Amino acid sequence: MQKIRKAIFPVAGLGTRFLPATKASPKEMMAVVDKPLVQYAVEEAIAAGVEEIYFVTSNAKRAIEDHFDKNYELEAKLEEKGKKRILSQVRNLVPSHVSIAYVRQHEALGLGHAVLCAKQLIGDEPFAILLADDLIDGGDQPCLKQMVDVYKQTGAGILAVQQVERSQTDQYGIVDVDSTHQIQKIVEKPKPEQAPSNLGVVGRYILPSKIFELLEKTQSGSGGEIQLTDAIAELIKTDPVIAHPFTGVRYDCGSKLGFLKANLEYGIKHPEFGDEWLAYLKARLCG
Ligand code: UTP
Repeated sequence: MQKIRKAIFPVAGLGTRFLPATKASPKEMMAVVDKPLVQYAVEEAIAAGVEEIYFVTSNAKRAIEDHFDKNYELEAKLEEKGKKRILSQVRNLVPSHVSIAYVRQHEALGLGHAVLCAKQLIGDEPFAILLADDLIDGGDQPCLKQMVDVYKQTGAGILAVQQVERSQTDQYGIVDVDSTHQIQKIVEKPKPEQAPSNLGVVGRYILPSKIFELLEKTQSGSGGEIQLTDAIAELIKTDPVIAHPFTGVRYDCGSKLGFLKANLEYGIKHPEFGDEWLAYLKARLCG
């Protein structure tokens, strides 16, 4: 069985749900407490064994490249001031065995199209996809690591899923599964009355490279975009794909409310000022 060594990070979306914040800044660079969303997702991928990271980016997302690049001036200043701890954090965002490369999606034609932009970089091996605006707190079992473990047992494609409100099925890819969690049906953003279940796909996938040839044949679907879900609907006709109901909490940080919730919760867990933040919240609610 091939190891999951490569991951695609599609970050070329327009982020319309988070305007005006995302007019000139990438939503993936928005910080939950003190780290940008994209860094949480990169750390999750590395914890799951990923060694090659490919961002599918656009002209509006240069800040992401800068974030993972060296900043000589900043490092020199921190060194001069003796700020060793923060210097080491800024310097070692990714360990030396991990490489990062970028490919452009010239037009936001959908998640499926974004994934297809990385086809040459992935080649003929199974790979992961992480959507950084889904922040998933899996505790000591990061979500992608859980999925890699299921992949190792089954060799199948794996999608992270969670129960969603019936009224919100039109915001997700919705799956129907059998008793072994194998996906029998997958539909992009069905209306609640047409949804085959309330199991929604969230932003973590492990897929075989066969998905690329299926994406090449996929016509634009929901929202006029080339949907990854539609290619997965073709994939399940020939290959097993398993829905993994991950352990952990997912914050939809592409939405304003989800982002606020993430900041509140990660603030409480922060080692430096979590207690003070919690005390503030308690006083604010009770005072
Ligand atoms: P979303 O559905 O969240 O779209 O994309 P979006 O444009 O980022 O945000 P909204 O809905 O307008 O607020 C899911 C993921 O797919 C990427 C996004 O960057 C996000 O990580 N994506 C989407 C692309 O890379 N390219 C696209 O054409 C569309």
